Amino acid sequence: MELIYGKPIISQAEMQKRIRELGKEIAEDYREKKPLFVGVMKGAFAFYADLVRNVHLPVLVDFLVVSSYGSSTKPSGRVKVVSDLTMDIKGYDVLLVEDIVDSGLTWSYLEKRLKAKDPRSLKVCTLLNKTARRQKPVKLDYVGFEIPDKYVVGYGLDYLGKYRNLPYIAVLDEVEEE
Ligand code: IMP
Ligand code: MG
Repeated sequence: MELIYGKPIISQAEMQKRIRELGKEIAEDYREKKPLFVGVMKGAFAFYADLVRNVHLPVLVDFLVVSSYGSSTKPSGRVKVVSDLTMDIKGYDVLLVEDIVDSGLTWSYLEKRLKAKDPRSLKVCTLLNKTARRQKPVKLDYVGFEIPDKYVVGYGLDYLGKYRNLPYIAVLDEVEEE
């Protein structure tokens, strides 16, 4: 594990500080609402768990499992919902929680799909925003960190299924395309 990634670009301490700030901001915005937060699995699991615990409101939780990448590091453009919501989101103020927005294809697909279920409002919160390879113009409501055009792992994000449990974000030194 130690061999393939470089130094952390976002440390655990920076992450915790930023998530506390986001939690406060989101709690203020959702105080008078009916918040239902949807975590996009698997990538968002770590961020989601930390974020909801920093939003001091009675929030409902639900999850979606999507599969996105065709190859290891390039977006395929195809997004598949592998496991769907368990709740009816109609009438709720839904916040989708993502690990990273890269091409924008996943969020724009999920936005359309969730809007069709008639939530009262729909916003997105992403831990990381990588704009360099955007294919779809998307509006992001809450962003943890802007990152450069590098493939990153840790804190939920994987490379071939691994490194999700790193407690910080690191850049992969070298990635071989499949
Ligand atoms: P999209 O390109 O915006 O559709 O993002 C699709 C998904 O690709 C994200 O939810 C991540 O799971 C994954 N992804 C994009 N960039 C990275 C990265 O740098 N590291 C790990 N996963 C990534
Ligand atoms: Mg993801």
